Amino acid sequence: MIIDLLTIFPAILEGPFNESMIKRAVEQELVQINLVNLRDYTADRHRQVDDTPYGGGCGMVLKPEPLFRAVEDLSDKSKSQNPRVILLTPGGRRYNQDIAIELSAEKHLIMICGRYEGVDERVRSCLVDDEISIGDYVLTGGELAAAVVVDSLVRLIPGLLADGSLKEESFTESLLEYPHYTRPSVFRRMEVPEVLLSGNHQEIARWRREQSIKRTYNYRPDLLEKASLTAEDSEYLKKLKNHQGDQ
Ligand code: 6GU
Repeated sequence: MIIDLLTIFPAILEGPFNESMIKRAVEQELVQINLVNLRDYTADRHRQVDDTPYGGGCGMVLKPEPLFRAVEDLSDKSKSQNPRVILLTPGGRRYNQDIAIELSAEKHLIMICGRYEGVDERVRSCLVDDEISIGDYVLTGGELAAAVVVDSLVRLIPGLLADGSLKEESFTESLLEYPHYTRPSVFRRMEVPEVLLSGNHQEIARWRREQSIKRTYNYRPDLLEKASLTAEDSEYLKKLKNHQGDQ
């Protein structure tokens, strides 16, 4: 998989990809991440990447020429037939795990990091296949959003994570994670739940499932509508709802 990140601030993206799992994926050549400086695709003496908006108003708008030239150059160099071009912008469709899974199957992604004031509309209408936002808040630019998107899809590349950890994780299942504990069993008088020390795997699985349901009910009740609950799960949820306010 090749990911080209087009930005006027490549330095913002140097840190996140040189650590931990992303670094390992790059070293194992499972993914190639290229930071591309948009300024390298300007043709004028001042290497100008943005300009004032027609019609007036504050802020600057990213000019179309450097973006078109960059995307065309990166596409020409691409071995894959047509790279998917994604604009990171607060006006895009909201990113989630389903989109991460979808994107992780692509061979070549070109991500354009927008600036919050905007990008010339002709880029949006003619150059870009997809527009993504990572949530309902405004960042100064798409760089941090691109880092979030890249992180979440690189970890889905087959061969990087132990298979089990992906299958078990929250969101694939539409429920939040159950609580985790490690040694020591008593820390500052706080004890690990007894069931986890019992060695009874069936009871442990049941407890974890119930904790997941409880957390989801408390923090993200909207997710419960998508979750596939067994009869036993629904029974537990009903109990939770009846005891609302007890704790
Ligand atoms: Cl992709 N860009 C900006 N500038 N702000 C955002 C965003 C993207 N997603 C959420 N907020």
